[in-house]
Amino acid sequence: MMSLPDDFACRMVAWQRIYGRQSLPWQNTQDPYRVWLSEIMLQQTQVSTVLDYFPRFLGRFPDVAALAAAPQDDVLALWSGLGYYSRARNLHKCAQEVMGRFGGAFPRRAEDLQTLPGIGRSTAAAIAAFCFQERAAILDGNVKRVLTRVLGYGDDLAVAKNEKALWAMAQDLLPTQAADMPRYTQALMDLGATVCLPRKVQCEVCPVHTVCQAKAQGEPLAYPVKTRKLKRSSATLWLLWAINEQGQVWLQKRPDTGIWAGLFSLPVFDSESELLVAWGQGMPLDYIAPWKHVLTHRDLHLHPVRVQGTSTSNPACPGQWVNASVWPDMGLPAPIRLLLAGQ
Ligand code: ADE
Repeated sequence: MMSLPDDFACRMVAWQRIYGRQSLPWQNTQDPYRVWLSEIMLQQTQVSTVLDYFPRFLGRFPDVAALAAAPQDDVLALWSGLGYYSRARNLHKCAQEVMGRFGGAFPRRAEDLQTLPGIGRSTAAAIAAFCFQERAAILDGNVKRVLTRVLGYGDDLAVAKNEKALWAMAQDLLPTQAADMPRYTQALMDLGATVCLPRKVQCEVCPVHTVCQAKAQGEPLAYPVKTRKLKRSSATLWLLWAINEQGQVWLQKRPDTGIWAGLFSLPVFDSESELLVAWGQGMPLDYIAPWKHVLTHRDLHLHPVRVQGTSTSNPACPGQWVNASVWPDMGLPAPIRLLLAGQ
């Protein structure tokens, strides 16, 4: 299909030099700590948001040793607002494993990086390619789109063997020169983020449009093919918003698993009646208008009930009174933070 094995990679690398992104804060470094942190933050999160969080996080945790030594609550607090908190918990665990299993230095091979918490095959390859010039293929959602289009690969990626086949093709497309790996890897990311978009393509400015099967077929948007739609679910959460006469709010640390794991939250109940059991004080209840908070896999219907407590009468559920000067710096789920800040 392509005349030279290296043709695709050469075009991508040459394009990245001129049209790619060159000066993001996690580029122009071979420090695996920075590259790893940026790759984890950039999963499911826009570059513009990460530009804000990345320097702040590095300021507080300048290296993997500092991150490993920090209390988990501090890590979650700095992650607050980025969402997908399992990333932050895995980040912390990963830092501790780098210290414990690898003497404080990230392993250099994708194969070894992949054994660490939160580092999947594509992230491992990105770190190994950017920092150590390993010829390892990335294949995140954007890259799947680019490669299935270029290759005209129309088999269903929801089927494991097809996805596996695409990984093999991604590996075959890598530059022959290992020194080209960082720029090639960035080129794939940049093309997927700026040119070869999900519902819009700009084939006129694409460096590989002359070798692109999807373009030749006139159907670039037909790829990738993925049948299994993620199933969405919904849940109703009742939130007990207890405030005492000193303006403190009753917050509980969420368990290590489940919704908002490890974060601090208003006490959460499955039903109004369970909430009322925790607040059996016969005081006025203020039902706040419920709203829907949309997560990737789930809609949350949030029903806050505000009550006035005293510092001597506590809700009958785990938690503690927290000062209004303290909770803004704690790791709270974004919707809870917004609720508390609005009043
Ligand atoms: N998304 C994931 N990794 C990225 C990177 N290195 N640069 C820009 N966007 C990215």
